[in-house]
Amino acid sequence: MPRKLAAGNWKMNGTLGSISEITALSKACPDPACDVLICPPFTAIASFAHAAKGTAISIGAQDCHANASGAHTGDLSAEILVDAGATHIIVGHSERRADHGESDADVNAKAQAAWRAGAVAIICVGETEAERDAGDALKVVSNQMTGSIPDGATAANTVIAYEPVWAIGTGRVPSLEDIAEVHDEMRARLAARFGDDASEMRLLYGGSVKPSNAADIFAVSNVDGGLVGGASLKASDFAGIVNAAG
Ligand code: PGA
Repeated sequence: MPRKLAAGNWKMNGTLGSISEITALSKACPDPACDVLICPPFTAIASFAHAAKGTAISIGAQDCHANASGAHTGDLSAEILVDAGATHIIVGHSERRADHGESDADVNAKAQAAWRAGAVAIICVGETEAERDAGDALKVVSNQMTGSIPDGATAANTVIAYEPVWAIGTGRVPSLEDIAEVHDEMRARLAARFGDDASEMRLLYGGSVKPSNAADIFAVSNVDGGLVGGASLKASDFAGIVNAAG
């Protein structure tokens, strides 16, 4: 079984002053039994990475442009993010897919950009509520995986996050059976496409993970950690989730 990963996605929250949460988290979890990652806003990556040096916490980014450089005003390449201290880059989060119209092909290109820069790509997939109600959750997730995960994905360069859109920020979580069904299917798809390496590829669950439900979710088969939004903003909450992954 792969070592678990507790990843925090701060979204558009936090300022440079929130660096105190990094210090508090490293104090609360000096020697965690899982890998720990915080993805703050772009502007905080460099200072957070500096503060996290020598701790068990890695710092990542929430998105990147597919190109390495060029005339793309306001965008950031994976190379720029890695230069700032990011070790991981989230790509294809449902909020980017919805707010910015990102397609599977866009996400695929961004994952390759992360690799090109030497970062781990955290590739997000997940069905909407209407898709789940229609009985299409497995099909939607499988199709997104086919389109969004580039050839060449390995356990070392890729993490996959299953985030049902209807569970994000809502306090609603699928049943443990439903999480297991999707994660088992994801593992089978990865094994069919990538062979032995797929057993070591980390599959995160995301969507309303809290200190109170993390241990149960992390105990589900083929769940190798979590991608956590709201409950990752405060070190006191996130420490509970990190400890649940141990
Ligand atoms: P949430 O967000 O934990 O606030 O539901 C998860 C995510 O969008 O990654």
